[in-house]
Amino acid sequence: MSGRFAVILAAGQGTRMKSKLYKVLHPVCGKPMVEHVVDQVFKLEFDKTAVIVGHGAEEVKKTLTEKIEFVMQPEQLGTGHAVKCAEHLLASQKGTTVVLCGDTPLITAATIKKLMDTHEANGAKATVLTAHAPDPTGYGRVIRGNQGQVEKIVEHKDASVDELAIAEVNTGTYCFDNEALFEALAEVKNENAQGEYYLPDVIGILRQKGETISAYQTDSLSETMGVNDRVALSQAEAAMRNRINEEWMRQGVTIIDPQTTYISADASIGQDTVLYPNTSIKGPSVIGEDCVIESGTEIASATLGRGVHVCSSVISNSVVADGSSIGPFAHIRPGSDVGENVRVGNFVELKKASIGTGSKVSHLTYVGDAEVGSDVNVGCGVVTVNYDGKNKHKTIIKDGAFVGSGSNLIAPVEIGERAFVAAGSTITDDVPSQALSIARSRQVNKDNYVKKDV
Ligand code: UD1
Ligand code: CA
Repeated sequence: MSGRFAVILAAGQGTRMKSKLYKVLHPVCGKPMVEHVVDQVFKLEFDKTAVIVGHGAEEVKKTLTEKIEFVMQPEQLGTGHAVKCAEHLLASQKGTTVVLCGDTPLITAATIKKLMDTHEANGAKATVLTAHAPDPTGYGRVIRGNQGQVEKIVEHKDASVDELAIAEVNTGTYCFDNEALFEALAEVKNENAQGEYYLPDVIGILRQKGETISAYQTDSLSETMGVNDRVALSQAEAAMRNRINEEWMRQGVTIIDPQTTYISADASIGQDTVLYPNTSIKGPSVIGEDCVIESGTEIASATLGRGVHVCSSVISNSVVADGSSIGPFAHIRPGSDVGENVRVGNFVELKKASIGTGSKVSHLTYVGDAEVGSDVNVGCGVVTVNYDGKNKHKTIIKDGAFVGSGSNLIAPVEIGERAFVAAGSTITDDVPSQALSIARSRQVNKDNYVKKDV
């Protein structure tokens, strides 16, 4: 039986990144490069997917959990050596093997599919994905014969002046007959400028044996961009950002200024939502339909319902339900759950706080470790005093309660249903439902005090 296999090369150290972080784990639009590649591979059906890991392997394994076989490349002796490390897993199999690089985050399943289709249609032993690069510096060059057939690939560092003038590059993605691949790999030598075992040498070896080699040239150069340094990383980021933004615009999201709108690869946004300039949607955030996200907003791993309005605010790891309005300048910290039609106004901070339907926390307030019911009015400058220096305590405010401005609620404390707290109170004891609590010292007016002084 003939199978389909994928090998993703991710063991290189990435010296040119000059980073403590393993190269393929550098994020592009919030997701590690290698995960982008794996996600595209998983859109297609492969019998086995192997990721070659080495230095930093543990981090890569943590990032990728899906049905992947990890293969250790103990020493980074080159891309050919890397594939050879999967010998025990694949060499005995019949079928087609696609090899991809973990540092080409923009590659798409559609292009991988076209490469495989070309490979099969030509009955080739190897098919290389190539692209025409206006600046081919650093890439391997595709050397073609008189009839246009691919003869071999020459690395930039090994290329002659004539070869360097060639603009058709090896994108680092290939399709091989699996058995032919491993047979040829046994013949790859490391006698070259970098002293490495080059995978692209397999192309020349198979060609020498008279095998059919084909090429599929894609017109999407950005898709095949290999990220070797931080300059390329920023270019990949920009290209991915454009792709993500375009996709959401096609799905019915208005993005006023795509150049300054940052949407993570894992986020989703509903139809007719409007994103203003300078907004960031990070992590696996979910934004419903008909929302308005105004400038200066950052939404990180948060879920927003339908018709939510956010102005210049930060919302992290929290939920905001339909019709609520946040900001300007609100900070909704992790673990918060804002109900429907809630108003969270300016300079309000929520932390691990749930706010029930229709409640208002309009100005200058801190609500932390709190459960606030529905139709509650929290006045201006209210503080839930949740921390005693050692432990955090909970504040409960029941439905319909009114907390006057400038009040401190010293937790643990509970404000009963429809209870009133007078402005300026420092509440240390529970307030029964329907009660009015005034907890402040009486005002003393000293008549003619100023006149006496004179
Ligand atoms: C490689 C190709 C080059 C092509 C370019 C496209 C070779 C020799 N050259 O060059 O023809 O134009 O990609 O981007 O293949 N890796 C390992 N183990 C190793 C070495 C590398 O797993 O021992 C992995 C790296 O993590 C990386 C990928 O292989 O994901 C490519 O390696 P890299 O060193 O970036 O190759 P390039 O010089 O870019
Ligand atoms: Ca590379």
